[in-house]
This record gives sequence, structure tokens and C-alpha cells, in this order.
Amino acid sequence: MSPADSLKVTGTNPAPGKLCVGLTGGIGCGKSTVAALFAKLGAGIVDTDAIAHQLAQAGGAAIPAICAAFGKEYIAGDGSLNRAGMRELVFSDAAAKQRLENILHPLILSQAQTQLQALQSKPYIIIVVPLLPESPAFRQLVQRILVVDCPEDSQIARVIARNHMSDAEVRAIIAVQTARAERLKLANDVIHNDAGLDTLAAQVSDLHLRYLAGD
Ligand SMILES: Nc1ncnc2c1ncn2[C@@H]1O[C@H](COP(=O)(O)OP(=O)(O)OP(=O)(O)O)[C@@H](O)[C@H]1O
Ligand SMILES: [Mg+2]
Repeated sequence: MSPADSLKVTGTNPAPGKLCVGLTGGIGCGKSTVAALFAKLGAGIVDTDAIAHQLAQAGGAAIPAICAAFGKEYIAGDGSLNRAGMRELVFSDAAAKQRLENILHPLILSQAQTQLQALQSKPYIIIVVPLLPESPAFRQLVQRILVVDCPEDSQIARVIARNHMSDAEVRAIIAVQTARAERLKLANDVIHNDAGLDTLAAQVSDLHLRYLAGD
């Protein structure tokens, strides 16, 4: 670790003095599993995937803007986002993807900031941000970037087992995400999720001690 790569807390941290680590990684690399391990050790967790999901539920803060921008056909009968329809649209239409992100990202950021402030009693905070490499705006929230990485074959096998998707479907998602090597270049810390859960937990414990010491 270089001197510039210290754990010192700087920037526009909404939880002043609190170390906030951005946890990212490709689909199925193990972000949620790693976040759960950190939570067990006492870290505060903010999950931007969960926030995004909540914003697009019935009555969610993003629903009126999504309806105005995309039309009623993208709102399901129960008032939530028509997730399947939107997934299909943004997969094939980059401008639509951008429009959706322009609605969601500021709302996710503001909700994440509110949650960070509520976690002041935690020794440090892990923010799960799958889109960290693609969305520099989220980087203002964090002082360090932790990448959970695994070989592409394991990534594909895990997502197929979890979501019952086909090999081709998983590869198509990986193809539109930031490339593994690019993501790794952003990392201050890396967890290699290429073995069993015990090995994963040991790496999380090591980082936990470092993050506590940097607090
Ligand atoms: N080391 C491991 N050994 C075995 N299974 C694992 C391991 N790590 C993760 N998994 C499993 O692989 C799947 C993907 O892990 P997880 O859900 O944590 O990834 P993720 O990065 O959060 O995925 P997503 O991008 O879809 O949110 C899960 O079913 C999880 O239980
Ligand atoms: Mg996850």
C-alpha cells in the first residue's frame, strides 16, 4: 500500500469521520455474500441494489418519474415498475437506459446518504454499489473501493445456479458490465472469491481488522 493509499477519511463523506468502503464486483461475484459477512462482524451496510429495488416498488419515489418518462406500460398493475419490460427496453436501447439512470441514480444517492447518516454508531460502513465503475457519482460517497473478484467460469456457474438463467444470458449481462480488468484497476482492496466460503470469510476478517484500525 502506498502512502497516498491510506485509510484516512477525506472527501464529501455524509457520515463525517466514518470510513466508507464501496464494495463492487460483477454479477454473481459475491457482493451480497461478502456484505453479509461484514455485517456479521459489525460493519454498517448500505445496499444500493436494495435501495433501487425499493424506489421502484409500488409507491416508490421513482415511480412517478418513470411513468412520466416511459409511459404507463412500464408500470405494472400493482403500481410497481414493470421490471421485465424495462429490463428488455434498456438492454437494447442505450438512450432509454440513460434516461432510467438519470431518474434512479440521484434518488439512490440521496437515499444512500440518508442511510449513511443513520449508521454513525458503526465502526465503518460498507456500501454495496454494483455500478461503482460505471457511475463516478457514487465514488463521492466512498474513501476506498473494495472489489470482489472471481474467475468468469465460477461467476457464470454461480448465477446459473442461483437464477436458473442460461449460460448465454449470463454472458450477455457480463458483456455489458465493466470488464473485470478495468474494475480491478479501481480497487484499493480485492477479495478473491475463487474458493470456498471459509476462505472468503477469512479475507473479510482480515479486511475488517484493517478497516477498524483505519477508523
Ligand atoms: N465462495 C463461494 N462458494 C460457493 N458459492 C458462493 C460463493 N460466493 C458466492 N456464492 C454463491 O454465488 C451466488 C452469487 O453470490 P452473491 O449473490 O453474493 O453475488 P452478487 O455479487 O451479490 O450478485 P449480484 O450481482 O447478482 O447481486 C450466490 O448464490 C452465493 O450464495
Ligand atoms: Mg447481490
